[in-house]
Amino acid sequence: MNPAPPAGAPAPTWIVLKFGGTSVSRRQRWDTIGRLMKRRADEEGARVLVVVSAVSGVTNELQAVCDGHADAAGTAARLEALATRHETFCRDELGLDPAAVLGERLAALRALAGDPRRAAGELAWQAEVLAQGELLSSTLGVAYLRSQGLDVGWTDSREWIHAQPLPNQNDWSKRLSASCGFEGDAALRARFAADGPALRIAQGFIARAPDGGTAILGRGGSDTSAAYFGALLGARRVEIWTDVPGMFSANPRQVPDARLLARLDYAEAQEIATTGAKVLHPRCIHPCREARVPLWIRDTERPDMAGTVIDGAAATIPGVKAISSRRGIVLVSMETIGMWQQVGFLSDVFERFKAHGLSVDLIGSSEANVTVSLDPSDNLVNTNVLDALCADLAQVCRVKVIAPCAAITLVGRGMRSLLHKLSEVWAEFGRERVHLISQSSNDLNLTFVVDEALAEGMLPRLHALLAQSGAMPVTEAAVFGPSWRHIDHPAPARPAPWWLARRGDVLAVAARGTPRYLYHLPTVRERARELAAIPAIDRRFYAIKANPHPAVLRALEAEGFGFECVSRGELEHLFATMPALAPDRVLFTPSFAPRAEVEAALARGVHVTVDSLYPLTQWPGLFRGRDLVLRVDPGFGSGHHEKVRTGGKEAKFGLAAQDVPAFAAAARQAGARITGLHAHIGSGIHDADHWRAVYAQLAALADGIGTVGFIDVGGGLGVAYDPEAEPFDLAAYGAALAEMKQAWPQYALWVEPGRYLVAEAGALLLSVTQVVDKQGQRRIGADGGMNALMRPALYSAWHEIANLSRADAPPGPPADVVGPICETGDVLGRQRRLPEATAEGDVILVGHAGAYGAVMANRYNLRELPQEDVLDD
Ligand code: LLP
Repeated sequence: MNPAPPAGAPAPTWIVLKFGGTSVSRRQRWDTIGRLMKRRADEEGARVLVVVSAVSGVTNELQAVCDGHADAAGTAARLEALATRHETFCRDELGLDPAAVLGERLAALRALAGDPRRAAGELAWQAEVLAQGELLSSTLGVAYLRSQGLDVGWTDSREWIHAQPLPNQNDWSKRLSASCGFEGDAALRARFAADGPALRIAQGFIARAPDGGTAILGRGGSDTSAAYFGALLGARRVEIWTDVPGMFSANPRQVPDARLLARLDYAEAQEIATTGAKVLHPRCIHPCREARVPLWIRDTERPDMAGTVIDGAAATIPGVKAISSRRGIVLVSMETIGMWQQVGFLSDVFERFKAHGLSVDLIGSSEANVTVSLDPSDNLVNTNVLDALCADLAQVCRVKVIAPCAAITLVGRGMRSLLHKLSEVWAEFGRERVHLISQSSNDLNLTFVVDEALAEGMLPRLHALLAQSGAMPVTEAAVFGPSWRHIDHPAPARPAPWWLARRGDVLAVAARGTPRYLYHLPTVRERARELAAIPAIDRRFYAIKANPHPAVLRALEAEGFGFECVSRGELEHLFATMPALAPDRVLFTPSFAPRAEVEAALARGVHVTVDSLYPLTQWPGLFRGRDLVLRVDPGFGSGHHEKVRTGGKEAKFGLAAQDVPAFAAAARQAGARITGLHAHIGSGIHDADHWRAVYAQLAALADGIGTVGFIDVGGGLGVAYDPEAEPFDLAAYGAALAEMKQAWPQYALWVEPGRYLVAEAGALLLSVTQVVDKQGQRRIGADGGMNALMRPALYSAWHEIANLSRADAPPGPPADVVGPICETGDVLGRQRRLPEATAEGDVILVGHAGAYGAVMANRYNLRELPQEDVLDD
C-alpha cells in the first residue's frame, strides 16, 4: 500500500475524470468535459487526465465483429460501418475534418478485417478489435477540444496500464478480462508528467498485454482504468462521471425515498457496489482504496451537484447506509446424515461445489445443517449443473434446493452494535419467509435471503423502517444527501425560515450578547392556528416543558390553548405568568412525583393524571371525591430517539392496559372517578397511524370503564429539522383523528403537543470563538454547546446551523461546529459546510431550537445560561 502523504506535502498533481459512452457522443457533452478540465486546472491548479469510453453502442458493435470473425466479408462490412459512423460524427457533430483527425485510426480499424489472426478469432485479435472504440473516441475528443483552444494531449493507456496475469486466470480472461498492476512510484509519475501537456485524454478499457499486444479490462473496464490511473499517479482524486447523481441508500427505481449517499468509506462503497448497486463497478474501488485516492461519483446532467465522495478520511458514522437486493439467488440446503461432529463434512461438501464450477456466496450453518447461496452465474442458467451437483451432494448429505430467492442486504458500519435498532426490521422479515441470515465478520453486512417474489415489495417498507428507527442515520447530513424523489422533481420550495427574512433584526439581538435564544411569536401563532383548524380536536393543551417562556405561554393562551404541566415548578410558573388562568385549562401529568406535588396540584383544581396504582393505593385519602385522569401505556412507543419513547414495557410511564380493571376498582374504592384517559407514547413522531392505534386502544378501554368523558392522545407531533426532510403531515394527522372521532363520537378528543408549536419559532444565537484545523479536521468553535442546547449531544439530533453574518457566502469546506464544554460529545453539528471565511465573532444560528432548547440548558462547566428574547412581529 502506498504510504499516506506526509503532512504538509504538496497536494497531488493529477485529477482523473472518467466519462462514459453517452458523455462522449455529443458535442455539447464534450464542451462540458472541456469546461470541467479547465476548471480543475484553473481553480485547483491540477493536471487533469480524462479517461473515456467508446461512443455509445460502439463496443457492442465491436463485440459483434469479434463474434462474427469467421465471416471475412461480414467483418469488413461491420468495420466499414463503424468507420463511417465515426467520420460522420467527426464532421457533422464536431465540425472537424475526418481525414485529418481520424485518417490513421480508421486505416488501422479497416486493416483488422484483413488481419491473419481474424479467421481463427484469436484472442489477441479480438482485444485489438475491442480497443478501437476507445482509441477512436479519445482521438476525436483531443481534436475537438484542441479546436476549442484547449491544449490537450493524447495518452495511450497501454503505455501505463499493464496486465498482470493471475495464477487462476484462463487465456480468455488474461486477454479480455485482465487485471493490472497499479503501484506507481515517483519515477513513473515524473515520466507521465513529462509525456504531454497538463490536460490529457486517455482510453478506458484497454491495457498492455505481457506480449506487447493489447488486453481488455472487461465489464466496467473504464471505471477500473480511471482507478488504475488514479492509483498509479497518486492522484488527488478520481471522478467517475455518470448519468445518476451518485450512490443511493437503495435502488431509486424501487425506493423513490432513497437518499443520495454523500460520503462513504471505501469498504462501505465496496460492499454496496458488490451487493447490487450498479453505479460503480466493484473492481474500481480496490486500487483507489489501496492508494488512498478519493473516488467521487458525479452526474453529467447535474455537474454542480456534489454526488458521492468515497474516501478513507471520513469520520466513521455507524449506521445502515444502504439496503440493496440481488435477485436470482439459489440456496442449497444440506442436512448431515453422517455422525455428530463428523470431521471433514464441509470439505466434502465444498469439494463438490468446486468440481461443478459453482461459486458459493453466503453461508449459514448449524450442527446438522449447512445452507449456502450460489451467485447467479452463467453455468447456473444451465439447470443441469444444479441437478448434477445435487446428485453428487446426495452421496454425503440430504439436499434441498430453494430457488428463486433474493438476497436483501443492509450495508453499513457497526452493524452489530445496531441490532437493537433493527427490531422493526426483524419484525418485517418475521412476516415473510427468511431462508438464511448471514452477518459478515467485517461488521458491514447483514443479509437476509427471502423468496424472490417478496423482495421488491419489501424494499420501500424496509427503507422507511430503517430511517424511522434511527438505524439508518438519515439526519446525518455528512452522509445522507437529498432523496431521489427530491432530485428528480425538486421539493416545492419551502418558505425561507423567518430568521433569514429578519436577518438584520436577528443580528441586532445577537449583538446584545450570546449565547441567546430568540423566539419568533408569529411562527408560534401560525402553528397554533394550524392545529386549531383540525376539526376533530376538541381541546388543545400546550406541553409547557418544550418552552415555558412567558411570552410563548401568553401567545398560546390567546390562541385558545390550555396547558400541560408535569411538575409543581411548571404549575407555579404557569400561574405566576397568567394568574387569571382557569384551572380547568390545565393538565397535570407528573411522573413519579412526590405526594406533596400531587397534593398541591389537586389543591389548585387542575386535571390530575395518575399513571400507576401506587398513588391510589398508598395515598387513597388524596383522591376521595375527586376526578382523575388515567395515563395508560398502550404497550408500544414511538419517537425520534429511544430516550423519548414513553410507551412499552421498557418505559417508566403509564399503567399497563391489563391493569386497567384493577385500577378502576381501586379508584372506586378510593372514591375517585376516572373522567379521562391519557396516553403519550413519545416525541417526534411522523406517522399518523400511531395516534390512530393509540386512540383505538384508549377508546376500547374507556368503553369498559364507563365514566370516561375525554381521551387525551398526548403530543409527539414531529418537526422537519432538516430542510430536506418531509414536513410533518398535518393533514394525515387530522384525518387519522377524524376517523377515530367518527368511530367514538361519545368521547371528547384532547391533544397536548409541545414541540410542534415552538420548535421552528426558536433559534439559538452563538458567536464564533475560534476556527481550528487539526490534522485535516476543521472545527468551528461557538460560545455555547451542549450546555446551551443539549439535543445534539443527548439524542444525536440534527439542527440546521448557519453563519448569519455571512448568509450569502457559498458553502465552504466541511467542519464540525463545537461548543466550549470540556467533553468530546460537545458537538452541535458534524461536517457542516459553513462559509470558508467564517471567523471569530461571526454570529452562528442554530435553527429549530425553540423546543427543548433553553429549558434544557444547563450550567455545566459553570457557564452562564443562555439569555432569551422574543420577536413579536
Ligand atoms: N405530553 C406528555 C405527557 C409529554 O411527556 C410530552 C413530552 C408532551 C406531551 C409533548 O411532546 P411533544 O409534542 O413535544 O413531542 N427533550 C426531548 C423531548 C422530550 C419530550 C418529553 N415529553 C427532545 O428534545 O426531543
